[in-house]
Amino acid sequence: MAEIMKLDDAGQLDFDRETVEQAYDRWAPVYDLVFGGVFSKGRKAAIAATNKIGGRVLEVGVGTGISLPQYAPHLRIFGTDISEAMLRKAKHRVDDLSLKNVEGLAVMDAEKLEFPDNSFDVVMAQYVVTAVPNPEAALDEFARVLRPGGELIILTRVSADAGMRRFIEQRLQPVVRPLGFRTAEFAWSRYARWLAGANAMELIERRLVPPLGHFSLVRIRKTDAAVAA
Ligand SMILES: C[S@@+](CC[C@H](N)C(=O)[O-])C[C@H]1O[C@@H](n2cnc3c(N)ncnc32)[C@H](O)[C@@H]1O
Repeated sequence: MAEIMKLDDAGQLDFDRETVEQAYDRWAPVYDLVFGGVFSKGRKAAIAATNKIGGRVLEVGVGTGISLPQYAPHLRIFGTDISEAMLRKAKHRVDDLSLKNVEGLAVMDAEKLEFPDNSFDVVMAQYVVTAVPNPEAALDEFARVLRPGGELIILTRVSADAGMRRFIEQRLQPVVRPLGFRTAEFAWSRYARWLAGANAMELIERRLVPPLGHFSLVRIRKTDAAVAA
């Protein structure tokens, strides 16, 4: 099947929504087997941080719902994803395990969340930001639907700024792109640039998580200054 790709502003081959959606529709049957174990420590840390805050949680890019059983029972979780096939798996999981704290699951683009402003205590995105065609647009949406005082918790790849790792990540990029991944273009400076331009968002934690130190757990708080804006 031909992959649909386009050039971004920098003239590089980039993702579009259809490519990503199709890639994850194909991953759905084997996703948990391939990525269940490898990302489990990171997910555990992100969910522990979420459970401490509690309240209403939006998990963007919830995928097969692999994290859903780990949320504390008193939370209310809404899961969204762009891939129907991934979400079907999540729905089966919710039904099979009778997860009463899952309030809903819906196909939704991270760049156009269909929720009013200030709707959630936590917005959570695990291994999603680098899979979205326009990550900054998605981060803007996460900030918008988060209530002042709430936390944005992301697990995400942080690429190398320089050196051999950067070289390898750039070489790998065209290979993994049709699979729905991006290895390069996500140096910490990119996240920092978004933070600097975002309204009333402050970094509270950035910590490496396995595997290989290529991923970080990042916690960002929406400050009360957002109320005045
Ligand atoms: C690497 S998987 C991570 C799944 C899950 N969060 C986990 O921890 O394993 C990336 C997920 O993001 C979803 N995704 C990619 N682009 C998206 C978008 N624009 N809006 C919503 N979900 C998206 C994919 O369909 C996929 O389920």
